[in-house]
Amino acid sequence: MKKILVTGGTGFIGSHTVVSLIEAGYTPVIIDNLDNSSDLVLDRIESISGARAEFIRGDIRSENTLNELFAKHRFEAVVHFAGLKAVGESVEKPMRYYSNNVEGSIQLLKAMDRYDCRRLVFSSSATVYGDPVSVPIKEGFALSATNPYGQSKLTVETMLRDLAAADERWEFTLLRYFNPVGAHESGLIGEEPNGIPNNLMPFIAQVAVGRLEKLSVWGGDYDTPDGTGVRDYIHVMDLAEAHIEAVKSFKPNHGCRAYNVGTGGGYSVLEMIRAFEKASNCEIPYSIEPRRSGDIASSYADPELCHRELGWHAKRGISEIMRDQWNWQRKNPNGYTVG
Ligand code: UD1
Repeated sequence: MKKILVTGGTGFIGSHTVVSLIEAGYTPVIIDNLDNSSDLVLDRIESISGARAEFIRGDIRSENTLNELFAKHRFEAVVHFAGLKAVGESVEKPMRYYSNNVEGSIQLLKAMDRYDCRRLVFSSSATVYGDPVSVPIKEGFALSATNPYGQSKLTVETMLRDLAAADERWEFTLLRYFNPVGAHESGLIGEEPNGIPNNLMPFIAQVAVGRLEKLSVWGGDYDTPDGTGVRDYIHVMDLAEAHIEAVKSFKPNHGCRAYNVGTGGGYSVLEMIRAFEKASNCEIPYSIEPRRSGDIASSYADPELCHRELGWHAKRGISEIMRDQWNWQRKNPNGYTVG
């Protein structure tokens, strides 16, 4: 019984990773404060996998909660998702981001140290590349942050690198996600953002079910083939599977390693709209609006290092992404609500 602590395990990427961990023979234990997720996810995970994940409702900033957790279980590794990710909100409430994302990670690392558990997979983001000089993006590109959310991810990355350099007992894998989308193919778990979605895919899906009227396409004058932004959209189950490979790959002298988790290709906003329309048979009304501040023209990964060192590559393409996104939204038009 290889136990893995999953912080933020009821969230979008966390819940899909919990399913993959169970399928791979691990025993995940979830800690989540449910600030941005629902505990109904736990029933759904059980329906999919046949196993009930142990769940602790709590905050990773609480030393007592973490002590209880680590005293009760012997974890092989920690997969650390807990954190906030809305860029706009992070500009308005920076301390909320530094507290949840940075202070939370510090408390977690301290508890891991106390209980002699020093393997961690960190949920990082392509946001750490800021505005990259070129695409595809390689892990060695310069890192920068353009908002407090991005800075919080970068700060934790730096902290983990420094810690691994100072003490070789620590083993860290930083997974830099590109744009996670789609849902589990059962349609039982998926993304349910709080309020109006900031991200493209949940926004399109909510337009399709009539929760939102129309999509605003932020910018039609980028230097891209059709003028709209290009991103590397990765199926959340592919992303979940990258975490399993990361957990398996820890070994002595591992140090701190960063990997891009993306497909290696990009789609424009207009291509995404068309692909969703094809999968759902719904028309998505949209209008081209001015650029969103902070957006870049094009971002996609060079995922070669992840392929070479973790043996991972994305298996699902745009048609699976759209099929599963639509299946989830259609079956759960109002997300995780009861009745
Ligand atoms: C955004 C964040 C990024 C974060 C990621 C987390 C910004 C500027 N970037 O990435 O830091 O790591 O989410 O999930 O917020 N689009 C529209 N209309 C919409 C929404 C999006 O046209 O209503 C366009 C965007 O301009 C972009 C593409 O769709 O070209 C993808 O946007 P989004 O899903 O928000 O992801 P990112 O901006 O890549």
